[in-house]
Amino acid sequence: MTNPPPARRVVVLASGTGSILRAVIEAAREEAFGARVVGVVTDKDDAGALAIAREAGIPTAVVRLEDFESRALWDEAVARTLATFDPELVLLAGFMRLLGAPVLDRFGGRIVNTHPALLPAYPGAHGVRDALAGGAKVTGCSVILVDAGVDTGPIVAQAAVEVLDDDTESTLHARIKEVEQVLVARTIGRMAREGWTVTGRSVRFGAPTPTPEEES
Ligand code: GAR
Repeated sequence: MTNPPPARRVVVLASGTGSILRAVIEAAREEAFGARVVGVVTDKDDAGALAIAREAGIPTAVVRLEDFESRALWDEAVARTLATFDPELVLLAGFMRLLGAPVLDRFGGRIVNTHPALLPAYPGAHGVRDALAGGAKVTGCSVILVDAGVDTGPIVAQAAVEVLDDDTESTLHARIKEVEQVLVARTIGRMAREGWTVTGRSVRFGAPTPTPEEES
């Protein structure tokens, strides 16, 4: 019997309560999941994600923007901190800041973000509020690869959630998060086990098909 390949190293960046982080940690308890969370980095001392990570015995780091003289220095500190965990995948799970060139240059192509709307509709910091204000009847969540824009990267996976007439931002976000937790965990697992291929804007699971020259 052959041993399974080693689980892919995932580092999670989070600013919030950490429910998505928790879902990924729980999914990763199964060896067959193919990935494990090896570090959690937050930009806030009081992010709920920190307590969830500590409870699971996962190393944490806090890199607060306020502790740096400039945004550029903070970006570099985030890149350095991520690198200490040697990630194969970086997951933004409710990380409410844009990442700058130092992080994108080092980890670009393997940074995944989850967003509470069906992109390209309603990008930005208020995806749920904006969908409600826009009168959407269906919204949902999107898992994307991160590029230099705001929620503009190629879409890896999506799931839809119906908007109810009496929804508030908080009731709708709570229903989206239930769906999102499952979607993100499943997507990270598939990316870890199967790899992924980007062709233009399209992302498919699975390694790129080798060209005849590469095969020979
Ligand atoms: C999630 O709904 C995620 O999509 C959203 O923050 C929530 C984090 O929940 N992210 C964004 O809005 C990014 N633009 P959590 O802290 O409970 O995991």
